[in-house]
Amino acid sequence: MKIEITVAAAVVVVVVVVVAASAVVVVVAAAAAVVVVVVVVVVVVVVIITTTVQLSKDKSRTFALKCLKKKHIVETRQQEHIYSEKRIMMEADSPFITKLHKTFRDRKYVYMLMEVCLGGELWTILRDRGNFDDITARFCVACVLEAFSYLHAKGIIYRDLKPENLLLDARGYVKLVDFGFAKKIGMGKKTWTFCGTPEYVAPEIILNKGHDHSADYWSLGILMYELLHGTPPFSGSDPMRTYNVILKGIDHIEFPKKISRPAHLLIKKLCRDNPMERLGYGKNGISDIRKNKWFQGFDWEGLMNLTLTPPIIPKVKTATDTSNFDTYPRDMDIAADELSGWDVDF
Ligand SMILES: Nc1ncnc2c1ncn2[C@@H]1O[C@H](COP(=O)(O)OP(=O)(O)O)[C@@H](O)[C@H]1O
Ligand SMILES: [Mg+2]
Repeated sequence: MKIEITVAAAVVVVVVVVVAASAVVVVVAAAAAVVVVVVVVVVVVVVIITTTVQLSKDKSRTFALKCLKKKHIVETRQQEHIYSEKRIMMEADSPFITKLHKTFRDRKYVYMLMEVCLGGELWTILRDRGNFDDITARFCVACVLEAFSYLHAKGIIYRDLKPENLLLDARGYVKLVDFGFAKKIGMGKKTWTFCGTPEYVAPEIILNKGHDHSADYWSLGILMYELLHGTPPFSGSDPMRTYNVILKGIDHIEFPKKISRPAHLLIKKLCRDNPMERLGYGKNGISDIRKNKWFQGFDWEGLMNLTLTPPIIPKVKTATDTSNFDTYPRDMDIAADELSGWDVDF
């Protein structure tokens, strides 16, 4: 069956151009007869265009469509990562992980049709607010912790934690997106690929010692610091300088007063140089983190049941309201055809 992506009448010119450039006519074997209508461009990166799309028969149902240029994937040898991203997201079924419904491909792009999170990136909210108080940060970190708990139990490590990859859904719950670096390594196994975002990379990754799910606990400590302070603890003018400060360790970092004592102590327990000493890595696993003093009084059950009221309730007016996202200059390049066939199973 063919799903044609057509441009809605109300759409701004930018979108028309992007859609024309990506020449999106997607062939799928979906059961439901749907016409998907491209509504608004959320993000345009060199490689990726994420747009929201809408079911023509039920306009209240919208999705995010991640479009990746195949030529770029091949040039940067990301084929395996893209397949892994698809497999892991398709398999994942957690309220703290963005759902991937379906994937498509054509001559120029591969596409991922996902649940849309209209509350925007945590990164944008943090930039606008400067920093979060303990209550807000605790809720965000708790959502990530539940996502990690789910993934780690399946032998999957995430490896790309940062505020850009955390989205708020319309209710204000935090969800992980972007599984481009996630990997199923299995229990008790290690992996060696160098990946991640410099400020969030664990020392054992820099030193190429092999890493496992403990690298995610490290990044959780970095995220806590960034949410409470506004910027991450380790940073330099270029990645090499950042890696140098990471290797000096968390004890060389000055904690500002606005980071409370319990938060400070938890960050230090997560950001131990030795991966085996990090909180969460012991025999009780993640529950050691849940029981930490910083989380005292936190309603874990309410979080799991999704009955807890989130600290940030985003303003989302309609199912196509993308106003919580920044707009980026559009990608004017017409993607080249890529016909080598690596994506035959995508
Ligand atoms: N399901 C989604 N709902 C809304 N926006 C999304 C969704 N997935 C991705 N985005 C937006 O697109 C951006 C880039 O997507 P991401 O999967 O992180 O790709 P990249 O590998 O380029 O970082 C995200 O940071 C977010 O702003
Ligand atoms: Mg991302």
